[in-house]
Amino acid sequence: MNTMPEDRKVILITGTSKGIGLYLAQHYISKGFQVIGCSRNSVDFSDSLYTHICADISEEQDILEIYKFIRKDIKRLDVLINNAAINPAIVSAALLPYETISQTFRTNVFAPMLFCREAVKLMTRNKFGRIINMGSMASKHEVPGEALYTSTKTALNAYSRVLAKEVAKAGITVNVIAPSAIKTELSGKINPMALQEVLSRNAIAEYGEMNDVSNIIDVLIKEESSAITGQIIYLGGV
Ligand SMILES: NC(=O)c1ccc[n+]([C@@H]2O[C@H](COP(=O)([O-])OP(=O)(O)OC[C@H]3O[C@@H](n4cnc5c(N)ncnc54)[C@H](OP(=O)(O)O)[C@@H]3O)[C@@H](O)[C@H]2O)c1
Repeated sequence: MNTMPEDRKVILITGTSKGIGLYLAQHYISKGFQVIGCSRNSVDFSDSLYTHICADISEEQDILEIYKFIRKDIKRLDVLINNAAINPAIVSAALLPYETISQTFRTNVFAPMLFCREAVKLMTRNKFGRIINMGSMASKHEVPGEALYTSTKTALNAYSRVLAKEVAKAGITVNVIAPSAIKTELSGKINPMALQEVLSRNAIAEYGEMNDVSNIIDVLIKEESSAITGQIIYLGGV
């Protein structure tokens, strides 16, 4: 039986086993949200406000199972944060294997699209929803060796802007948050010298902090932020 108070907001975050997603899960638990997180690996914490679902989001069936659980047991969804993504080896575009291209697009583009599709159905019922998709400064800087990751993030930008127009009347906003660089496993795979060179092109030529990301998401998911939609917000002065 679901004993959740009627007014407790429900937030679904992808990629909560580590990095920014783990931080965001704990941040929104501390703010009293009911948080549903997912990733292939489990998490090493538990909280009465947190449910973890082990799922591979590059598989549509796994995404559908998550929404089956939300519809049956939680019955509402207020916020979706499409955070999970991969950035495979930095490699020349001319050398990319098909399977790497396919897995990266399935994880970084197809999965967020499917999460959005299912979220919109639930959010429309309540005439309220906030969708945040994670972008990257890669879309602005177009760095050699990052063609695959960059094209997935740029596709997600375009998708988000169009979706924002389609769902505005249902009370749903869709925005992209594009951090510059934050210390995680994903950014740790990038050569530090190369990353520093890219960061030097920004107004703030340093790594950002996790709370830079949560600060802006806090604003965007407020009820009062109903007019902020279709925006791609770059952090760090990109
Ligand atoms: N860190 C940065 O500097 C930076 C900068 C700009 C944008 N971003 C964006 O911010 C987001 C988070 O990045 P991060 O640095 O926190 O990355 P991270 O530390 O590598 O974490 C990625 C998360 O995504 C999950 N994930 C990956 N593939 C998955 C799959 N197939 N199914 C389910 N979950 C999957 C991982 O969990 P499992 O491995 O357990 O599945 C993990 O929890 C990404 O969208 C990234 O592009 C990051």
